[in-house]
Amino acid sequence: MYVPEKIGTALSPNATKVMLLGSGELGKEVAIAFQRLGVEVHAVDRYEHAPAHQVAHFAYVINMSDPAEIRRLVTEVKPDFVIPEIEALATDELLKIEEEGLATVVPTARATKLTMNREGIRRLAAEELGLPTSNYEFCSTFEEFEAAATKLGYPNVVKPVMSSSGKGQSVLKSPEDLHKAWDYAMSGARVSNARVIVEQFVEFDYEITLLTVRSIDPTTGKDATWFCEPIGHRQEDGDYVESWQPMAMTPRALENARSVAARVTNALGGRGVFGVELFVSGDDVYFSEVSPRPHDTGLVTLGTQRFSEFELHAKAILGLPVDVTLVSPGASAVVYGGVDAVGVSYSGLAEALAVAETDVRIFAKPEAFTKRRMGVVFSTAENVSAARDRATLAAAAIKVHPAE
Ligand SMILES: Nc1ncnc2c1ncn2[C@@H]1O[C@H](COP(=O)(O)OP(=O)(O)O)[C@@H](O)[C@H]1O
Ligand SMILES: [Mg+2]
Repeated sequence: MYVPEKIGTALSPNATKVMLLGSGELGKEVAIAFQRLGVEVHAVDRYEHAPAHQVAHFAYVINMSDPAEIRRLVTEVKPDFVIPEIEALATDELLKIEEEGLATVVPTARATKLTMNREGIRRLAAEELGLPTSNYEFCSTFEEFEAAATKLGYPNVVKPVMSSSGKGQSVLKSPEDLHKAWDYAMSGARVSNARVIVEQFVEFDYEITLLTVRSIDPTTGKDATWFCEPIGHRQEDGDYVESWQPMAMTPRALENARSVAARVTNALGGRGVFGVELFVSGDDVYFSEVSPRPHDTGLVTLGTQRFSEFELHAKAILGLPVDVTLVSPGASAVVYGGVDAVGVSYSGLAEALAVAETDVRIFAKPEAFTKRRMGVVFSTAENVSAARDRATLAAAAIKVHPAE
């Protein structure tokens, strides 16, 4: 992977440039991290005034699933790095762009292609790498789906192979749920692709995100892997509502988690932050999925770590030394829209910030939806439990109002 020897001044002909494909709240923090290192930031999304657009040197609105539009923009801007922030991209075009040497795709074009589709990453993890996962089947018709569910038993979980944030996903308790789950999966699929994964339901004790960073070790000059402290989180309807760090784990479980994360991120290659999602049951660890980029549950690192996952991503992409030190236990809690409206206003910030050791990010998304993540609150404390109480209290204080 390309390592820039120098950083060229932003907005000069000599600039070192990054292009974010996807400009949401995670991209916004990545953009700010690059800005601080003097890198020129080009932010791309499918709609105007996306969060990262607002803090980038240049902003573009294109259809990122269209190969021609991606190619046109990359050819025009000539970024050193193309940094995917979302999954739904023209990943075959990214492979070509990387092959032709037009730009370096982060962490690699192959990793973005494999992780865009649950089938690619699951087969790699379970069948090639032999990592423990839930039992699973892929299917494309209702008949195959019914057979798969019978084989795996109940409860099980069905998910469209191309989907995120719980869209089209349901837990089946008995064969009576088959029709409803299938219809929902078909409606939630990102593309007109009927393929789904059915997974045995894992009765885990807890789930974690293990942020894993690949960068260059300054002592050896070679690629190396670092692990942040594990992040615990709570999901509701496939979306994270609360996360905390560190998640207490037995030494054996932590060792297993790091080993699984190292193997999968090694196989994906390149440099940057990876969010490895794992289910933990006793000392046993099951691989669930991985984002080859910062993870939403990792927003907590804005408060807990010396360098947030976003700063770590920026540094790792540039091949710079990374420091994954946890400074304090902490927690994050999501602020949802609660309304469907354009140009909303926020109240209660004073109350939220009056909570000890607490900070707030408002993403300034142009449009709010009831279940859209509009902001996040994060708190630190002596222990995770106190931090969770603070973050939840502060998040509840923030109210979203429709514009008058
Ligand atoms: N096989 C499973 N067993 C138990 N819970 C699961 C299983 N698969 C998913 N879940 C739950 O659903 C959440 C979302 O699933 P995930 O595969 O991560 O989808 P997404 O790509 O939408 O994040 C997980 O974080 C976990 O809480
Ligand atoms: Mg997930």
